[in-house]
Amino acid sequence: MKNRLLSVIGFCCSVLFAAAVQAGESVEELLQDMAKIQADPKAHAAAITQGQERGILCFSCHGENGNSKRDYIPNLASQNAAYLFTQFEHFGNGIRKDYVMSKLAKQLKDDERVAIALYFADREVKPREQPKQPTAAGKDLYYSVCFACHGEKGHGSKEYPRIAGQPYQFLETTLLNFLHKNNDRAGSPMIAVVANLKEEQLKEVAAYVSHMP
Ligand code: HEC
Ligand code: HEC
Repeated sequence: MKNRLLSVIGFCCSVLFAAAVQAGESVEELLQDMAKIQADPKAHAAAITQGQERGILCFSCHGENGNSKRDYIPNLASQNAAYLFTQFEHFGNGIRKDYVMSKLAKQLKDDERVAIALYFADREVKPREQPKQPTAAGKDLYYSVCFACHGEKGHGSKEYPRIAGQPYQFLETTLLNFLHKNNDRAGSPMIAVVANLKEEQLKEVAAYVSHMP
């Protein structure tokens, strides 16, 4: 009886959620759908459930709870949902390039991509061991440049990604790629941000950010 009741509730909620995301919508429209789902606790909970089911494809690398399994792979936990969603679109349409991610991004339906982003955004980042200790120079650079967009705590906002607690290796690789204008994220605003910094400074700030809770 209880199981039947739960499956009826599950069915109602997935209908509720599916109704919010329609076929053939633009990225802008999908982001608006996502914001509506987030504002409705029932639809949000249903989307998170669907995201956990469909996100199974992602767990081997990004971890079931969004804490990545390898240090070169970013955490998705607690990331801003709109950022997760748009980056996934970027892999799909070639604005951002990564062999595996670019293939995967083409395999999921619109409502699945929205649900998966909401699922990972709802998980928590767990502290992990980081290879490089933070320094005062890294902290100073963070609070003179980075905080303006990524926030006081590195938690980002609607417009900017969370970077706090990402694995050092991912941060270092990503920042050095921006510095050397590696073509993987060619149009990124970060390219201008790091243009006048030195490799060593980027490593120091990466170490500081990796230890931010
Ligand atoms: C084989 C490993 C692998 C699998 C499986 C995988 N990813 Fe990734 N993902 C990566 C790597 C590596 C990166 C970093 C790529 C880069 O920065 O160039 C990444 C980056 C991302 C990013 C960008 C995050 C950021 O902070 O910049 C998102 C979003 C993402 N993956 C979502 C997913 C989703 C959703 C799935 C499941 C459908 C998935 N990934 C499956 C390896 C994987
Ligand atoms: C002017 C605003 C701005 C400033 C200042 C800024 N960032 Fe960013 N940062 C962004 C934006 C926007 C993105 C998303 C980039 C994209 O879509 O390619 C980003 C992305 C990143 C990423 C990749 C995150 C991910 O998970 O994909 C890292 C790492 C990063 N920034 C670190 C830093 C550091 C360290 C500093 C200080 C040296 C800094 N940022 C300063 C706007 C900014």
